[in-house]
Amino acid sequence: MDFKEFITIVPDFPKEGIRFKDITTLMQNGEAYKKAIDEMAAFAKDKEIDVVVGPEARGFVVGCPISYALEIGFVPVRKAGKLPREVIKVEYGLEYGKDTLTIHKDSIKPGQRVLIADDLLATGGTIEATIKMVEELGGIVAGIVFMIELTYLDGRERLGKYDVFTLTQYS
Ligand code: PRP
Repeated sequence: MDFKEFITIVPDFPKEGIRFKDITTLMQNGEAYKKAIDEMAAFAKDKEIDVVVGPEARGFVVGCPISYALEIGFVPVRKAGKLPREVIKVEYGLEYGKDTLTIHKDSIKPGQRVLIADDLLATGGTIEATIKMVEELGGIVAGIVFMIELTYLDGRERLGKYDVFTLTQYS
């Protein structure tokens, strides 16, 4: 399936010069959404994953259905001030802006094998920050999946030593 047919490019959103890749049109199509999730779950299947981790908000719409398909748990990574219990946090740079990500301290046990899932690999800053927290908790990042890779931002190089799978690429 050509997933690009279902992703809408929105010029100048959220600010001038950014060509936003809108996955909501893919999600609106049940067949395309299911195929996308199935392909990412298939990549993870033989990796003995214990838990899926996804950063808010679009990492949830990718990571949660993958965790359901793999019949394992899901751990949310959220922006500062959103998680109610004890967290660890890390500052990170975005394609546009800066923020702090957090994860519950007790969400990953040392030695657990983790699949990280998100909609988009741009600069890789979000996932680099997510990896940092997973590893600080003792988790092993066994794979990383994205719906979309923006190859011109070189995020994949930043995640060089990890096993990265992307459904579709824009160059
Ligand atoms: C977007 C996107 C990825 C990240 C990619 O999330 O969903 O998580 O940016 O950029 P990067 O590779 O340069 O880090 P955003 O922070 O906009 O949050 P949202 O999903 O809540 O809209």
